[in-house]
Amino acid sequence: MNILVVLHSWLRWILLILLLVSIVKSLSGFSGKKALSAGDKKIWLFTMITAHTTLLIGLILLFFGRSGIVHGAPAGVSVMKDSFYRFYWVEHPVMMIIAIALITVGRGQAKKSIPDVTKYKKAFWFFLLALLVILAAIPWPGRAEIGRALVPGM
Ligand code: HEM
Repeated sequence: MNILVVLHSWLRWILLILLLVSIVKSLSGFSGKKALSAGDKKIWLFTMITAHTTLLIGLILLFFGRSGIVHGAPAGVSVMKDSFYRFYWVEHPVMMIIAIALITVGRGQAKKSIPDVTKYKKAFWFFLLALLVILAAIPWPGRAEIGRALVPGM
């Protein structure tokens, strides 16, 4: 199960890089009024696949992980009153699922029958919003009780 935590944590960096590239590409697409390129479509797709893989591993950790729901919270702990369990069982999953839905909708613009500039523009806003939500929901080191390493094992 530890390997899944490491994988989940590493995927965060891959996703953040792909999302940043998608944002820059969308911005340059709509500001330069470009036609949607096959390369940009591919990057959007890889961003979405990485997000969905992170989601899948996150779901496994949420239910079967070392602090997962199947293990249960320690006796006497009220999940919503405990900042650790509230974060890992509620805030982190809910915010990340919203972000992944935004990425999915952003990537979906590529398939719509709308002008390419509009595709770029809409995708840009969906990706940017997703990035902000993800940045807010990552357990960065230094966050009291919930903080985790930037690179697991270090
Ligand atoms: C964009 C998506 C996501 C990112 C970037 C992300 C990132 C992270 C990071 C950096 C950690 C800390 C790992 C460590 O201990 O080193 C973590 C832990 C965790 N994440 Fe996510 N996460 C995402 C989505 C999700 C989702 C959708 C769920 C659940 C449905 C989830 C459930 C968890 C759980 C349960 C832990 C704690 C694992 C443990 O310590 O056993 N994550 N996540």
